Amino acid sequence: MSIGTPLSASATRVMLLGAGELGKEVIIALQRLGVETIAVDRYDHAPGQQVAHRAHTIDMTDGAALRALIERERPQLVVPEIEAIATDALAGIEADGIAEIIPTARATRLTMNREGIRRLAAEELELPTSRYAFADSLNQLQMAIDGGVGYPCIIKPVMSSSGKGQSAVHSPDDVQAAWDYAMQGGRVSGTRVIAEERIDFDYEITLLTVRALDANGEVQTYFCAPIGHRQEQGDYVESWQPQPMSNTVLARARSIAEKVTDSLGGRGLFGVELFIKGEQVWFSEVSPRPHDTGMVTMATQWQNEFELHARAILGLPVDTALREPGASAVIYGGLEASGIRFDNVAEALHVPGSDLRLFGKPASFARRRMGVALARGEDIEQARERARQIAARVSPVK
Ligand SMILES: Nc1ncnc2c1ncn2[C@@H]1O[C@H](COP(=O)(O)OP(=O)(O)OP(=O)(O)O)[C@@H](O)[C@H]1O
Ligand SMILES: [Mg+2]
Repeated sequence: MSIGTPLSASATRVMLLGAGELGKEVIIALQRLGVETIAVDRYDHAPGQQVAHRAHTIDMTDGAALRALIERERPQLVVPEIEAIATDALAGIEADGIAEIIPTARATRLTMNREGIRRLAAEELELPTSRYAFADSLNQLQMAIDGGVGYPCIIKPVMSSSGKGQSAVHSPDDVQAAWDYAMQGGRVSGTRVIAEERIDFDYEITLLTVRALDANGEVQTYFCAPIGHRQEQGDYVESWQPQPMSNTVLARARSIAEKVTDSLGGRGLFGVELFIKGEQVWFSEVSPRPHDTGMVTMATQWQNEFELHARAILGLPVDTALREPGASAVIYGGLEASGIRFDNVAEALHVPGSDLRLFGKPASFARRRMGVALARGEDIEQARERARQIAARVSPVK
């Protein structure tokens, strides 16, 4: 494995498709290893575009535009950071040997749609999941619920993320509203939804799982310590690591994560989302890329999730060891404006063990994630308390 010199004929070039806060950190990790980076997003001055060697703004759901850009830039690796991408074009790029898709074109296709990954996990791999069914109309949805999913359940557009279009249904009276809400919240036009039994879990985790090369050049699976997190309206608000859990449950969680990541293949870091109740573990979903709840690893691990992803995709060895307990808390925009300022940053960073990332997004809106507070602590309770304090002190203003 060798790495060239950026901006020269020998350069090792990596293109990020999606350059939000997660892509930005992957780019920084790649830059530190002397990789030439190209950031692509659908709007100008996206966080990752501000730190890459080159930036492009295109509609990544336009397969022809995406292919043309990849042919022009000629990266060795193409790293999707978001789900809304023309995955057919990526399959073509991979099949024609133009670039390697991380982790694989098939993994990006299966995980962009809730149906692909759910059928793979539940029906092919026979992993435990919530009961589920798919529906293309209000009528079908009611039939799906009556036919086995039951109440309470959660309705989600099959193409959506960050909780968009997602709502809970407790009785037949809620079904119409949940259907209407899903129709407004889907990422692309289309009417398909999944109805999922609501799991009454004790807690949920993200198990960051890395497929990287070992000393013999073989792909091995490595696990980070489990990350606990709390979601509001389908969006993560705080996370902490390590989430305490019994050895039995951890072993089950790892076994599920290994099966699903093995099946998706390739190299890189995956965020495997799992629900836990007592000794029971359910697979929920998986991101074939760094996970938002994993931002906590910037405070807790020797190699954070972005460094792990960068190393794994380059064929370098990884170290998933935990350094110390820590937590993260999301900083929302809270207001609608462009070019906002963040007040009280110094006050926030006077909290002991604190750190901060401000993503540099050009425009703020109420529920937009604009930054993240990070804290280390003696234990996760102290770290969570600190992270919440830091996030509360930072105040976005016009
Ligand atoms: N079947 C379920 N039972 C119980 N809770 C659920 C279920 N499905 C989703 N949730 C809750 O909603 C959250 C978001 O769901 P999910 O991960 O499917 O949505 P998403 O839109 O893909 O979110 P993201 O992209 O942020 O991961 C979960 O982390 C969990 O807290
Ligand atoms: Mg999720």
